[in-house]
Amino acid sequence: MRIDVILGLQWGDEGKGKIVDYLADQYDIVARFQGGPNAGHTLKFGGNKYVLHTVPSGIFRPNLINLIGNGVVLDPVVFQRELQNLEQSGVQFHKRLLLSRKAHLILPTHRWLDAASEAHKGKEKIGSTLKGIGPTYMDKTGRNGLRLGDVEQPGFRDLYEALKQKHLELLKIYPSIDFDLKAAEDAWFASLDTLRALPFVDSEYYLHDALGQGKHVLAEGAQGAMLDIDFGTYPFVTSSNTITAGVCTGLGVAPQRVGRVIGITKAYCTRVGSGPFPTELSDATGDRLREAGHEFGSTTGRPRRCGWIDLPQLRYTIQLTGTTELCMTKIDVLNAFTEIAAATHYRYGGQETTNLPYDLCQVDVQAVFKKFKGWECSLDDVRRIEDLPAAARAFLDELEAYLGVPFRMVSTGPEREKLLVRE
Ligand code: GDP
Ligand code: IMO
Ligand code: MG
Repeated sequence: MRIDVILGLQWGDEGKGKIVDYLADQYDIVARFQGGPNAGHTLKFGGNKYVLHTVPSGIFRPNLINLIGNGVVLDPVVFQRELQNLEQSGVQFHKRLLLSRKAHLILPTHRWLDAASEAHKGKEKIGSTLKGIGPTYMDKTGRNGLRLGDVEQPGFRDLYEALKQKHLELLKIYPSIDFDLKAAEDAWFASLDTLRALPFVDSEYYLHDALGQGKHVLAEGAQGAMLDIDFGTYPFVTSSNTITAGVCTGLGVAPQRVGRVIGITKAYCTRVGSGPFPTELSDATGDRLREAGHEFGSTTGRPRRCGWIDLPQLRYTIQLTGTTELCMTKIDVLNAFTEIAAATHYRYGGQETTNLPYDLCQVDVQAVFKKFKGWECSLDDVRRIEDLPAAARAFLDELEAYLGVPFRMVSTGPEREKLLVRE
């Protein structure tokens, strides 16, 4: 059996949670492969809204196994809060939420190092979610990290103390920030009991066996391909590989196991935090997109920066991720616009090109746009992609021709059922 992948093709918040939740009942296992509580995945169904940070978006589908893979970094305190919310919503998860022993733990001191590093950078800050993501991945690659499996070891407290001491020393080189070590530590250790109550697995063996038995597995990406540590707008990126390659390292599955790769893009584009964004609209149209799309961060509440969809950028991330089919979300946000636009190429250094420059941060890239007529009507009654208004179809057709990959899904609202699927 193959493992299918859902990931974001822009700078995050493309609507991955909604699409994973919709598709989840066609799968046996949903697995997160990277990122951590920097993610905020929103699901809406039955008149309720849920935001997940670490828990995979298949958790609301009965009987489905949800796996947190080795590539994820997990903050047990945030995780405990998420589980409490699930319990309050009546979700039974105890036997079907599995944790990889090789996933790394976010310590309270990782969060403070994140905050101190951002304070040190001042105006140059990444705009991190301050969840401790960067410092935790630094300890992972620096071979100092603590893994979930360590919690089961007798020497765990000593390992924790050694890493904490190192962090307290490191914090001295940064501008000082306020923290209450004792309170945070108590809460952190108490939250470990929540972890211990769930099954720990060697997820690479678990998934290998599951695929061998013909189980259907869906890998759920966090962030977006433009936030990838290697190929994103470095240094304004996250600290993990958000592209399809991250599925292999973050779950322990071989590349030839990867099946469908579903790349998600909004009908426009957003970014939260600092860094280059060639199609950003710092004007009334950008504000209008933010209002219509309720573009405020699911994790931090920060206003998202908005702009038109960027086709050279999408072509780049489709190439990096091996996207086999596209999903467009939030097309309804454009319903009231008389005119919309899409960037078709860039102008910089006296040339026109569709390639991004080596350092998007240093080069003044001008996006060149093509305009499209808006459809100026509600899409609430549309049930099939073919039945979209002519102007919306023309927009999709032109994007498909440019990107060379078909749109198999179009999302017309935040609710689970507001999805048009081309079979
Ligand atoms: P994720 O991080 O990729 O899962 O996306 P987020 O949940 O952070 O942000 C997407 C936001 O858009 C959420 O508030 C969703 O409820 C909402 N959303 C998802 N799909 C649609 C859609 O098709 N139309 C509208 N209007 N909202 C959507
Ligand atoms: P989901 O999964 C949007 C951004 C942050 C910041 C940069 C680095 O909901 O799409 P980090 O905390 O990872 O060190 O922050 O990445 N960022 C996201 N932006 N959606 C996300 O996740 C994000 N996770 C991180 O705003 O610019
Ligand atoms: Mg999000």
